[in-house]
Amino acid sequence: MDLDGRVVIVIGAGGGLGRPIARRLAAAGATLVLAGPHPERLPVDEHPDALALALDLRDPRAGDGLVDAVIERHGRIDGLVNAAGVVAFGPLVDTDDAVIEELFLTNVVGPLWLLRRVAPHLAATEGVVVHISAVVAEQPMAGMAAYSASKAALSAADAALFRELRRQKVRVCDVRPPHTETGLADRPLSGSSPRLPEGLTPDEVAGRVIDAILADDHEVPSSAFAD
Ligand SMILES: NC(=O)c1ccc[n+]([C@@H]2O[C@H](COP(=O)([O-])OP(=O)(O)OC[C@H]3O[C@@H](n4cnc5c(N)ncnc54)[C@H](OP(=O)(O)O)[C@@H]3O)[C@@H](O)[C@H]2O)c1
Repeated sequence: MDLDGRVVIVIGAGGGLGRPIARRLAAAGATLVLAGPHPERLPVDEHPDALALALDLRDPRAGDGLVDAVIERHGRIDGLVNAAGVVAFGPLVDTDDAVIEELFLTNVVGPLWLLRRVAPHLAATEGVVVHISAVVAEQPMAGMAAYSASKAALSAADAALFRELRRQKVRVCDVRPPHTETGLADRPLSGSSPRLPEGLTPDEVAGRVIDAILADDHEVPSSAFAD
């Protein structure tokens, strides 16, 4: 997919991965829509022409407002990159019900609610959707049961959606990065991070995401980050 002139939404655009993804999309010529729950964290200084929108994935109607705003401004949607998410650590028995619910709402349920609204517009442009799941979708970890389960659920949805949406020529790509130095592990919903080895740089992961879009890949497994 050539990104030049394509209208691409980045959810979590103010985050550690969202920022370099947005930067690389813009460098490839995409027209950006930046979205996240805290508009003040969106990189509007870096992308002054971008449409910037408050969006909380936990709100079932978030996709309606997003689609209305993007169609009103640009008349089309070519891409959706979901770089939003939350994490929690610790034994399951010590993890509050509300935390488990929030993990699933943000990491799985919200992205699926959102895609229901955006997918028809991607079909009109033969567009692309990218979800950042995680290595734990492939290798679930002790102390991260609910997070791992949420990422495995998103990854499974992506595998099904790849098949479901390809008839409409919408590409679905599941990206499963290993630990990356975004600071995510230092701001969990609950618990505290185990000692982790030095992670990838966010820009490295962002580069893989853009390469996958350009190459029409349907997944970037964790093994693809090894070299
Ligand atoms: N970092 C890693 O080691 C790693 C590895 C594999 C996969 N991932 C995945 O990559 C994605 C991005 O993580 P990151 O490392 O960039 O973390 P990050 O720096 O904390 O960024 C997370 C982003 O998600 C947004 N967000 C949180 N709750 C949201 C909600 N309810 N609705 C919409 N947006 C919401 C945040 O917005 P605000 O800042 O406005 O709150 C922020 O922009 C996550 O799905 C994460 O699980 C990360």
